[in-house]
Amino acid sequence: MKRILVTGATGQIGSELVPALRYKYGNRNVIAAGHKRTPQKEFLEEGPYITLDVTGFESINKVVQDYHIDTIFHLAALLSAVAEQNPQAAWKINMEGLYNVLEVSRKNGCSVFFPSSIGAFGPSTPSVSTPQDTIQRPNTIYGVCKVSGELLCDYYFTRFRVDTRGIRFPGLISHKTPPGGGTTDYAVEIFYHAIQEKRYECFLKEDTYLDMMYMPDAIRSAIELMETDPNRLKHRNAFNITAVSFSPADLASYIKKFIPEFSISYKVDAVRQSIADSWPRHMDDSAARDEWGWKPQYNLENLTRDMIDRLSEK
Ligand code: SER
Repeated sequence: MKRILVTGATGQIGSELVPALRYKYGNRNVIAAGHKRTPQKEFLEEGPYITLDVTGFESINKVVQDYHIDTIFHLAALLSAVAEQNPQAAWKINMEGLYNVLEVSRKNGCSVFFPSSIGAFGPSTPSVSTPQDTIQRPNTIYGVCKVSGELLCDYYFTRFRVDTRGIRFPGLISHKTPPGGGTTDYAVEIFYHAIQEKRYECFLKEDTYLDMMYMPDAIRSAIELMETDPNRLKHRNAFNITAVSFSPADLASYIKKFIPEFSISYKVDAVRQSIADSWPRHMDDSAARDEWGWKPQYNLENLTRDMIDRLSEK
């Protein structure tokens, strides 16, 4: 990785991945590409920022050639709940965007990182210790795009030797940029409400268990996977990774340790609850641990403390 393009750079993952990559590979060597959201001030000050619509092959191709890109972190996508409101737009952005990135990479010899998700699983997937290789019959457009994306990335590697790699991320918790339109967003929102109002009304049921991870672990995982010697990888795409599995009630009781007045109530959103119910409770991430040494650093205790400290400073 010498010259890197990050699509979806202004999103929840991108806004933290770009600074981490710039720190490691040099500010000028990481091109942040956003679309609709206003870019963070430091993006514009510290390195190149461009506007890019991933549904256009030519515009991606031009950026890759102009900046001599060798690696693309392709993060631009709609999350699960907003995708369900507009499945046609989700297919266009999530699938056509990936197809364009893979085609550009095939023509220009780029490596590609593609984030898959717990959303790539469905109701017939074993929900506890979900194996790396298992049944994937998701019933959301987000999940359909993620499974198709995993397969397409595998195909581009076996058929065209494009160096594709990817991870199935769990719900991601971060304090810098809010997620926007996901099913796991409650685990971020709850912290803002706990600090500002001491109460939160949760849109998932109290006992909905999902895999979760703190953003610093997620950023490190993406970079570590892309830096791994490819000879170690038996899988390439769609590695299960997780840090913790918890429910809204578990998270609320940890927050109460730091903010004793905090209280939670529940008003279930049927669409997001049914999406959450179709996803695993806890994935088995031993393939990632064995093949490239994945190991999380944050558990529920230290991520809760860090979120509260960081958001209170804000
Ligand atoms: N966090 C995502 C969502 O809720 C899943 O990958 O949509």
